[in-house]
Amino acid sequence: MSQSCRVVVLISGAGGNLQAIIDGCDDNVNADVVGVISNKPDAYGLIRAHHSEIDTSCVIAYKNESRSEYDARLLAAIDKYQPDLIVLAGFMRILTDEFVSRFLGKMINIHPSLLPKYTGLNTHQRAIDAGDSEHGASVHFVIPELDSGSVILQAKVPVYPGEDASVLAERVHEQEHAIYPLVVKWFSLGRLTMTDGNAFLDGELIDPSGFAPD
Ligand code: GAR
Repeated sequence: MSQSCRVVVLISGAGGNLQAIIDGCDDNVNADVVGVISNKPDAYGLIRAHHSEIDTSCVIAYKNESRSEYDARLLAAIDKYQPDLIVLAGFMRILTDEFVSRFLGKMINIHPSLLPKYTGLNTHQRAIDAGDSEHGASVHFVIPELDSGSVILQAKVPVYPGEDASVLAERVHEQEHAIYPLVVKWFSLGRLTMTDGNAFLDGELIDPSGFAPD
């Protein structure tokens, strides 16, 4: 990719991952966060974007609006930025198949579990309840099936006996902030692609549990 990769980040809340990506892009000449879109007007991530002088938009769902109607408005907000990459960073809405299909291979998400385990919500508590000895986060390409696209990179953390879900969540967040900017960087350098639903790094098929260096 010769020109800088235009990144749009979608958020709903605190924006910890957004901040990590903004900071990562500051050190990465190949990527720029050109817009941040939230579905929540009070998302703290919007303030983070303002601090970094990044343009923001709010696309708030109307009462009784269908998912397709919402996604059409979201699409219009995204198109304004002409992005090369859409980054879902704690964007807590289910997107329609039509919307997702429009950005296949150009949209990534971070999910707080070692996918394919624990798609959906309450992942930290579910890992504790299952007695898992390790937990973590996954960055994956977005496909129509929820939290099911090819995994690009995972980070693992141990689960300590008697640990509270909020403490475990904090340690997972720390790892999220390490792996997400790296994946954005790979994409911005043209190293990361998705073909026929599979993720490739430097032309090599990525293992289903994410990239693992030799
Ligand atoms: C992150 O932990 C992310 O993995 C999760 O929301 C949090 C957002 O935190 N995403 C999902 O659960 C999506 N299924 P942040 O706003 O501080 O980046």
